[in-house]
Amino acid sequence: MFKTIIDCDPGHDDIMALLTILAHEETFEVLGICTVAGNNTLQKVTRNVLQVEEYLDIDIPVYMGMDKPLLLDAVPQPAGHGESGMDGPVLPQPVRKASDKSAIEFYRDVLSREDDVTIIALAPLTNLAVMIKEYPELKDKIGQIVLMGGALNGGNINKYAEFNIWHDPHAAKIVFDSGIPVVMAPLEVCYAGGILIKETERFKNGKKVSKLVDDLFSFYLKYAIDRGWDKTAIFDLIPVLWLLRPELFSCKTGKVDVVLDGEDTQGQTIFCEGGGAHTVLYDADREACMKLFFEAIDELDGRYS
Ligand code: RIB
Ligand code: CA
Repeated sequence: MFKTIIDCDPGHDDIMALLTILAHEETFEVLGICTVAGNNTLQKVTRNVLQVEEYLDIDIPVYMGMDKPLLLDAVPQPAGHGESGMDGPVLPQPVRKASDKSAIEFYRDVLSREDDVTIIALAPLTNLAVMIKEYPELKDKIGQIVLMGGALNGGNINKYAEFNIWHDPHAAKIVFDSGIPVVMAPLEVCYAGGILIKETERFKNGKKVSKLVDDLFSFYLKYAIDRGWDKTAIFDLIPVLWLLRPELFSCKTGKVDVVLDGEDTQGQTIFCEGGGAHTVLYDADREACMKLFFEAIDELDGRYS
């Protein structure tokens, strides 16, 4: 059982990752959800997760974190996720609210009392960097950070960088240099473990959780369809699938360095194999990954029928 904190910026794929976590209560004890500025503003991404909690009638505490990167300005990405940060689903207005406690205070309190906490980081790493800088004595309480971010060959936001690392490279460097074990799911493994567009038809069955996923895909797939692709990555899902079934992935260990600047290189992750605290996933059994995802949504559909 992983004692888990989810650090995210929902985000279509963040929510698909969250749903898969919720389906696996035997594996994940979710202590809280932290939000951070990333795909869109802190207010919008927090509202998105609260709307999903409202739709599913769940009460995982939500903690708002940093509203901008450490040194740079926040740069929302409406092209990828829409103006709301999660266009597609029409969800209830949230009655639930985020906690009065900030994400940083939440990390402080949880890590003061718990050991071996797994952080699933699906967004820029600003909250984690602030926590490590403010409470360095607590970092040993983190068992692992399993994150979606980085790229080995080419980027999705500039020539070499992936968005989560690019958005706050200074935070990413603090996290990778912290000595905390990090498992990184870069773009390449997310593409390898992606979903065929024709496979998304299975969510058009009218069931409650499938409907949410189908509505998420109604916007999320546009990017791939516009480019003539037959497949898309569900980026943030991959760290969750790795925690559930690591044998579905190929990985290497070594050290990841982060490039802090340069038009083409801000946020580039450079991986050197051997002798480091970092595990990098680079390939996945796509069909088995998707089977795991489909089973998770089926499980939740059953729970909500
Ligand atoms: O580059 C992919 C990442 O950026 C994912 O975390 C996705 O949610 C987007 O915000
Ligand atoms: Ca995300």
